[in-house]
Amino acid sequence: MVNLQNVVVRKGGKDILKGIKWSTCAGEHWFVMGGNGSGKTTLMELLAGYVWPQRGSVAVLGETFGRVNLLELRTRVGFVSPWVFRRMAAEVPFEDVVASGFDGSVGHYGQKTSRVAAAVRRQLKFFGCEKLARQEFGTLSSGQQLKAVLARALVHAPSILILDEPFSLLDIGARLDMYAFLLKLSRCQDAPQMIMVTHHREDILPFFTKGLLLKEGRVLFQGSRESAFQPGMLAKCFGLSPKILKEVLV
Ligand SMILES: Nc1ncnc2c1ncn2[C@@H]1O[C@H](COP(=O)(O)OP(=O)(O)O)[C@@H](O)[C@H]1O
Ligand SMILES: [Mg+2]
Repeated sequence: MVNLQNVVVRKGGKDILKGIKWSTCAGEHWFVMGGNGSGKTTLMELLAGYVWPQRGSVAVLGETFGRVNLLELRTRVGFVSPWVFRRMAAEVPFEDVVASGFDGSVGHYGQKTSRVAAAVRRQLKFFGCEKLARQEFGTLSSGQQLKAVLARALVHAPSILILDEPFSLLDIGARLDMYAFLLKLSRCQDAPQMIMVTHHREDILPFFTKGLLLKEGRVLFQGSRESAFQPGMLAKCFGLSPKILKEVLV
């Protein structure tokens, strides 16, 4: 699904990702962890086709960057990130937020074709938000806003779904509610591969069986969930004492 070889990404004259090698296979769901500034968001933007590598090779869904139309690729990769929230206009109704996933815009969607309207209705039903269809984005709760942005990402049935710290603004109730939706999504026959950046272990539902740990722009670890969660590994990732971690992690 994803295949990165020796990837370097530079921003503002500085190497942010430094020689990343990482690959994922169909059927796997991955979590991504790493300290602030370790390059998680940059890596997600790269996969979604919003950032270009300076060196190395990037293949997403079998398409190699340099030979692929990025606009076309973006329609196959759902993207949920703070970037989307920041750009979404407050007055756009829930259903238009969802429809805007079709053209990659942020909420300004004109006349819907019957195919788009049907796909939007399916998403509203999946998230149980039919009654919110005409409610403006700015008046939704944080949990409802996340549902709208998630539905926008899913509306064109992507093969990969990228979630960059999706739950950071939610209270515990809204968080548990969203876990139920991710679980339901993971059980769908045509579920996309989920790749989720998070700082919270409880966000990492059991179907996330693979973990990628980043440290200062490099891959520290990629592999099984259990190995990623070893106190020694987390200690290395976040620069903490393994002894203290063993005491506080239960
Ligand atoms: N446009 C930019 N110009 C210069 N530096 C940037 C830019 N965007 C991000 N960075 C830097 O790149 C590093 C990684 O950022 P980011 O990918 O957002 O990390 P994370 O999501 O892990 O916190 C940070 O040190 C950040 O300051
Ligand atoms: Mg980030």
